[in-house]
Amino acid sequence: MSSIKNTRILDVLNGLPVDKTPVWIMRQAGRYLPEYKETRKKAGSFLGLCKNPDLASEVTIQPLRRFDLDAAIIFSDILTIPDAMGLELKFEDNRGPFFDKPLSNSDEVNSLDPNNIAKKLDYVANAIVETKSKLNNEVPLIGFSGSPWTLSTYMVEGSATKDFRKIRSAVFNNPEMVEKLIEKLTFSITDYLIMQAKAGADVLMIFDSWGGLLNSENYLDFSLNPMKKIIANLKSNEGTKNIPIILFTKGGGSWLKQISESGCNAIGLDWTTNISYARETIGENISIQGNLDPCALHGTEDSIKNAASRVIDGYGHGHRHIFNLGHGIDQFVKPEKLGILIDYVKEYSMQYHLS
Ligand code: CP3
Repeated sequence: MSSIKNTRILDVLNGLPVDKTPVWIMRQAGRYLPEYKETRKKAGSFLGLCKNPDLASEVTIQPLRRFDLDAAIIFSDILTIPDAMGLELKFEDNRGPFFDKPLSNSDEVNSLDPNNIAKKLDYVANAIVETKSKLNNEVPLIGFSGSPWTLSTYMVEGSATKDFRKIRSAVFNNPEMVEKLIEKLTFSITDYLIMQAKAGADVLMIFDSWGGLLNSENYLDFSLNPMKKIIANLKSNEGTKNIPIILFTKGGGSWLKQISESGCNAIGLDWTTNISYARETIGENISIQGNLDPCALHGTEDSIKNAASRVIDGYGHGHRHIFNLGHGIDQFVKPEKLGILIDYVKEYSMQYHLS
């Protein structure tokens, strides 16, 4: 068994008391940090960085050198799985990640290979092993994957698009294709997350960044149910049955109750849903992660503290809150501002954890 020193996040996920509200930040390793840009230059490219365990573990650790964070998240990307399945992932600086040949019919979906993901993505396992060693058990390490639906959106669109018309239409005009794709991804993602846990990840998070595109029944069929299957697979696997799982659907505010019944240990909340309302809706047996508006970090010191207080007060007394943003930190944030936020969360939240 591991003997991690700072267990706040694990404690919150397991329903145990903590002294302060723990905090980590989505995309905490990223372009807002000059040292990240430096290492990325050394790697030559974004994908080069993802595939180099030495440098990927270096950027994973960088934000922990600056800030009092309660977890690290392995540096990688959700689009490594489609890459490993045969859709070649490319990256351009002013465009982000994309696929040259997105999926357009069932034959193309049938030709994807969902097998041996763990082997094909062994660079992620190696980065986890190396990061665990560098972390020296100070804080837990979060592993992650995209959700089947969210990966499908990128695989059919080719990249993030304005209105995601192709994939949203496919749900109606070619549901068999989308179902087949989701089935393959569900299989590969399970394998991938088990691999990450074996390599040393202490928590697993599923990013359903585009679940909020779906109408309410289709969200359940195409996004939540496949994620539930993954969670059930993980909970019934010897290597992952005790690993806490965080499920984040961006735009998922209308399905909180259903998400809370998925088997996950925590719900990631974006900034559009009121956190008190979320807590009332899901009850006390599950944790909430979130949900500061990422743009709050562009405010003054006072306005940052004010916005953070609202989230912490909104949750109120109790131990099942992990402070985070409602989505990833953007590249234009000044690192000092994030430092102000993190220190303030620690200090201000103590009042809610006195016994
Ligand atoms: O959180 C972390 O620090 C860990 C690393 C991480 C990255 N991507 C690094 C990254 C994680 C957890 C992700 C997940 C991811 N990737 C998601 C889900 C989370 C979310 O934001 O909703 C999605 C949708 C992607 C796909 C992706 N990767 C996009 C759309 C982009 C371009 C947009 C952007 O922010 O640049 C990326 C690139 C990316 N992934 C960067 C980083 C640090 C920026 C790359 C760079 O230029 O160096």
